[in-house]
Amino acid sequence: MTKKYNRTLVTSALPYANGPVHIGHLAGVYVPADIYVRYLRLKGEEVIHIGGSDEHGVPITIRAKKEGVTPQDIVDKYHEIIKKSFEEFGISFDIYSRTSSDIHKKTASDFFLKLYNNGDFEEKTSEQYYDEDAQMFLADRYIMGECPHCGNPNAYGDQCESCGTSLSPTDLKNPRSTISGSAPVMRETKHWYLPLDKHESWLRQWILEDHKEWKSNVYGQCKSWLDMGLQPRAVSRDLDWGVPIPLPDATGKVLYVWFDAPIGYISNTIELLPDSWEKWWKGEDTKLIHFIGKDNIVFHCIVFPAMLKAEGSFILPENVPSNEFLNLEGDKISTSRNWAVWLHEYLEDFPGQQDILRYVLTANAPETKDNDFTWRDFQARNNNELVAILGNFINRALVLTQKYFDNKVPQLNELTDYDKETLKEFADVKNVVETHLNTYRFRDALKEAMNLARIGNKYLADTEPWKVVKTDMARVETILHIALQITANLAIAFEPFLPFSAKKIREFINMEKFSWDQLGRIDLLPVGHPLNQSDLLFAKIEDETIEKQIQKLLDTKKANEASVEIKVAPQKENVAFDDFAKLDLRVGKVLECTKVPKADKLLQFLIDDGMGKRTIISGIAAWYKPEVLVGKQVCFIANLEPRKLKGVESQGMILSVENSDGSLSLIQPTTEVNPGSQIG
Ligand code: 2FM
Ligand code: ZN
Repeated sequence: MTKKYNRTLVTSALPYANGPVHIGHLAGVYVPADIYVRYLRLKGEEVIHIGGSDEHGVPITIRAKKEGVTPQDIVDKYHEIIKKSFEEFGISFDIYSRTSSDIHKKTASDFFLKLYNNGDFEEKTSEQYYDEDAQMFLADRYIMGECPHCGNPNAYGDQCESCGTSLSPTDLKNPRSTISGSAPVMRETKHWYLPLDKHESWLRQWILEDHKEWKSNVYGQCKSWLDMGLQPRAVSRDLDWGVPIPLPDATGKVLYVWFDAPIGYISNTIELLPDSWEKWWKGEDTKLIHFIGKDNIVFHCIVFPAMLKAEGSFILPENVPSNEFLNLEGDKISTSRNWAVWLHEYLEDFPGQQDILRYVLTANAPETKDNDFTWRDFQARNNNELVAILGNFINRALVLTQKYFDNKVPQLNELTDYDKETLKEFADVKNVVETHLNTYRFRDALKEAMNLARIGNKYLADTEPWKVVKTDMARVETILHIALQITANLAIAFEPFLPFSAKKIREFINMEKFSWDQLGRIDLLPVGHPLNQSDLLFAKIEDETIEKQIQKLLDTKKANEASVEIKVAPQKENVAFDDFAKLDLRVGKVLECTKVPKADKLLQFLIDDGMGKRTIISGIAAWYKPEVLVGKQVCFIANLEPRKLKGVESQGMILSVENSDGSLSLIQPTTEVNPGSQIG
């Protein structure tokens, strides 16, 4: 049974405010959401589109630390940049707010308290890695170490990117903090957990049985999470940036960013509609739709619904249309490698041409699988579709009307069979486009809209009014009357997809607005209706322009490669052999190895140097656990002036190499040699 809805609440994933937005964001979430809300508005339905910046989370604090500014400075900067990009691309939010707002903090905090008071959380104390130098608990991503499966020395606390295994930070050998480089220690901490396991049974029914119509990528991901069995998830973190946990014994703890961010949809609705927000979030006749990227599926289909259900008074989403990822010229889009087409940069290079990008990103949207954006495809779609089909048809219809009929809509005379066939063909388009839009198939919907322009183009090419004008003016009147009605239809059909161009078409044909229901009708422009001066809708993009963009990406690739090279330190000045020979380099065997108290980076070695025993202090504690080094052979400088470190005399220096990421690795002979053997 289909439910009867009276309004639609559309949310678009809140992007993290720690960098600008790129084409991947637009293609994955914001363009599809915007098409959908524009379509509903055009149908005269009650709809709101909620957006905003996600301003919490660890990466923002790390970025702030690196740049020597506050997290608030970071989010203030990027919130404005992101907001402006969305405005410029016509992403029509009813509100674009932010999760650092006071309304949000209060809403999220109250939400947590309500669940807490209901007894919906489990409280657990566990041991987690703590960075004593940076004085913070470490999120999994900020711990690196050796992968227990493949030995990759740079595996992350949540995953080894070399062998792909999912890890826990405690799986790593020789863990180190990526913040300070020091070895983290275990420390007890208390957190609040949402017991997802207790929600599993209704979630299974609700998703797997009641929402079989969800897109297969979304449904499939949910099914595999549910089949693995849900575990309780912590909703708090030890951090000083975020919404503070509103409990007396929770100093230094904030809501986990994924707990507070989706509540941002609610707070932003409250900010937009302080008096009537509840009907949007609590009315059973509201259809709630979340537009998201594929990495957000579990949070929107499982975690957030569990939160809403636990709260008790909110509706659940009706659908969660999620796209896959967009790649760029065959490579994964990456902010850190600057492998992206940034929206603000696109507009500098293609001013006023937002619709071309909207078109290409929709025509090639990663709806069912990851897709690739290439500049050649961008050029081809503009030149062969927007210019050659849509623009060409509209331009011909308008220019001929100007030329033969003083820029007024001519009358409709007797219809030929061919005219009737053409009219019938485009009258059906509305239903097809609508079906696609209602089921979030925006690529197909756009294809159908473009077919309308194809029909128009073919009609003019077949009827050749520029030739008929010499013999039969009445026939030309009819042809152009029909061509102008098709033009008006195109203004409606393209409004959700290409809002800037649809507006231009409406200006050309001197019509302020249309409604979606008028699509398919052939009486949109009355006979004698005066048109305005028209202009070309789209211009051809030359090879040169595209080559510049490709070159820009090639330069990025080169710069990335160069930045890897830069990490190789330049060679030092030559030294005389005699100077080198002054160094007494030897191999020793580690007899004992311990941590130096109150010095995270230092290990104290007792070495068998073949002549006796000596103590050496070395700053490699972040990369080695002391116990694993006992019995190993190391290389050391035997005749370095002794010096005191943390009150202990170090009699030499152990040799290690520094990798490009700053990690250290001890140098060892490839076969066992006698302690005291000289290196040279
Ligand atoms: O993946 C992201 O960019 C998240 N900031 C999305 C959050 S969506 C919602 F929960 F706010
Ligand atoms: Zn591995």
